[in-house]
Amino acid sequence: MRPIHVGLLGIGVVGSGTFNVLKRNQDDICGRAGRGIEIVMVAARDIARARGIVGEQVEVVNDPWQVVDDPRIDVVVEVIGGCTLAKELVLRAIANGKHVVTANKALLAEHGMEIFAAARARSVVVAFEGAVAVSIPIIKALREGLSGNRIEWVAGIINGTTNFILSGMRDKGLPFDAVLKEAQRLGYAEADPAFDIEGVDAAHKATLLASVAFGIPVQFDKAHVEGITRLEAVDIAIAERLGYRIKLLGIAKRTADGIELRVHPALVPARCLIANVEGSMNAVMVKSDAAGVTMYYGAGAGSEQTASAVIADLIDITRLATAEHEHRVPYLAFQPQAMVQTPV
Ligand code: HSE
Repeated sequence: MRPIHVGLLGIGVVGSGTFNVLKRNQDDICGRAGRGIEIVMVAARDIARARGIVGEQVEVVNDPWQVVDDPRIDVVVEVIGGCTLAKELVLRAIANGKHVVTANKALLAEHGMEIFAAARARSVVVAFEGAVAVSIPIIKALREGLSGNRIEWVAGIINGTTNFILSGMRDKGLPFDAVLKEAQRLGYAEADPAFDIEGVDAAHKATLLASVAFGIPVQFDKAHVEGITRLEAVDIAIAERLGYRIKLLGIAKRTADGIELRVHPALVPARCLIANVEGSMNAVMVKSDAAGVTMYYGAGAGSEQTASAVIADLIDITRLATAEHEHRVPYLAFQPQAMVQTPV
């Protein structure tokens, strides 16, 4: 069976991470997907730089429309970011019958209804595990692991930059601007860091979580959004003295009147696990009727951390496409490797 053919829109931080992890783990990935997954075309602004990452085997083009219009491509991975061009490209890929994987939370939070409707009409998948809390498979946890539950609420630290800033101000007594600059240097912050510090990025993610958890339309405009820009060192110090930590939380909660969706700084008792999530790490808690409270923790930003989620989506789509057209992939695909006897 020929491999699934992937077209990559963008080869920046996430695109290069995706290429590298796919290459490094290709045998395991192929075993789990039941079929090879191959990046065959990359759209990049800087062709020479892209060549340096993907080598000579992959076609590199300047024009992203070539990728979404190429009949050889089964899945388009959109990692260029932004909403304008990304939206047009994603809609065209869908119209051309291609599945889409994206880590673009802004795109889905703001235009998700149009994009998901288009995907439904063409019977293709738009997968977005990398859009929320990158390394944490929270979309899959809600869609799969907890799918038999009635979800009561989802709450979490879902923006690494602001958590990094709050941790830096508390632990090192550093000023807001200095820690933000460090977050930008480390590549955690969005291209426009106002999205992070004003709570918009967390609200994009909370909007997607709410939609998956409660099966509601994507309604970013209904979210209450408040960032950390008005916080001062003294607020953090007073919270500390009272036994609390200030965390920027994204919360989606079932109420008698509907689903509440909000992002704002919150006082969290210092003894709680989530209060101790530091630096750029993310954590999401889910309260559901059968499983009770569950908690998920991991890196909230980063190249290979986001790639991990993008590739999980690629594997899901490969399984689905293969099951529809060829055969069902077994739930566990065993590798022909001997067990090693543990020395006692
Ligand atoms: N700017 C985002 C964050 C990147 O800080 O969490 C990952 O979505």
